[in-house]
Amino acid sequence: MEISEPEVIRDKSLMRSWSRSRRSNGQTLALVPTMGFLHEGHLSLIRTAKSLADLTVVSIYINPGQFAPSEDLSTYPSDLAGDLRKLSDAGVSAVFCPSELYISAPGNDFGGHLGAVNGERVGASCLEDGGSGHETWITVERLEKGMCGTSRPVFFRGVATVVAKLFNIVEPDVAVFGKKDYQQWQIICRMVRDLDFAIKVIGSDIVREADGLAMSSRNVHLSPEQREKALSISRSLSKAKLAAEKGLKNCQHLKDLVRQTISEADGKIDYVEIVEQQGLKPVEEISCPVVLCVAAWFGNVRLIDNLEID
Ligand code: PAJ
Repeated sequence: MEISEPEVIRDKSLMRSWSRSRRSNGQTLALVPTMGFLHEGHLSLIRTAKSLADLTVVSIYINPGQFAPSEDLSTYPSDLAGDLRKLSDAGVSAVFCPSELYISAPGNDFGGHLGAVNGERVGASCLEDGGSGHETWITVERLEKGMCGTSRPVFFRGVATVVAKLFNIVEPDVAVFGKKDYQQWQIICRMVRDLDFAIKVIGSDIVREADGLAMSSRNVHLSPEQREKALSISRSLSKAKLAAEKGLKNCQHLKDLVRQTISEADGKIDYVEIVEQQGLKPVEEISCPVVLCVAAWFGNVRLIDNLEID
């Protein structure tokens, strides 16, 4: 079968007209939003997307709106040429890679790229420019609190807002997100329900390296030694799941097991939580399907992972 190159679209209005013309021909569209530096985790979402719709669009956009000034926007890895090669092999129909998605205020000179000042990428704070630039944010009130929302206070409003923008520009029928970012996936599901987006949101399973490390664009920043130690995250999750399956239902004990395993490997824990799969409410005793969620630092790299316990 002949594989055609994906169309690379950089402009929002061209993206919208591309989608509208396909949809008016009766074709269905799936969207996979990403920040690029694609790995097998992203590619698995693309395979899911391709099975659900006639055409698949992948967006690549490092969203300044979801990074606080102290976070790693300026060092977030990127490789557009490499990504485009992978997407061509994956047989996607279009790649939406805008240089900017936000409106900048008149007089704010961000060098043509709102997230960049003097070539440096800068985060959400540069979007808050006093009113005539971007000032509308989506907050999913309860779900965005706790877990990643505690240590990354602007993260989820930035994610929800950029995903809403992508939904409005691409107008997909289906959108696919990874359960690797469990809280993010649930927040998008809730936003779609609450704001009546006519889009079906699908959660796709975590893809791991052969040794168990959850794939992440940020793994590239781990030294070989840190990478080895970071395996304690997936190991601790499996250990706790096994203990739960053997009858240990007390969440404090299960969380202690996770904390201990990661701390022994020199990981600095951000949080360990056990929450209901539906609604992410913390639980004390396991009596319904839960998800065990972890965030931990190895050196300067913050990693997240989770495991469902049904
Ligand atoms: P990014 O980290 O590039 O991830 C894009 C999508 O890939 C997300 O839905 C994420 O959950 C999924 N993903 C990443 N690693 C995965 C893995 N190992 N297994 C399965 N899925 C994985 O998440 C974002 O970008 C951004 O916040 C975004 C949603 C694009 C908004 O800016």
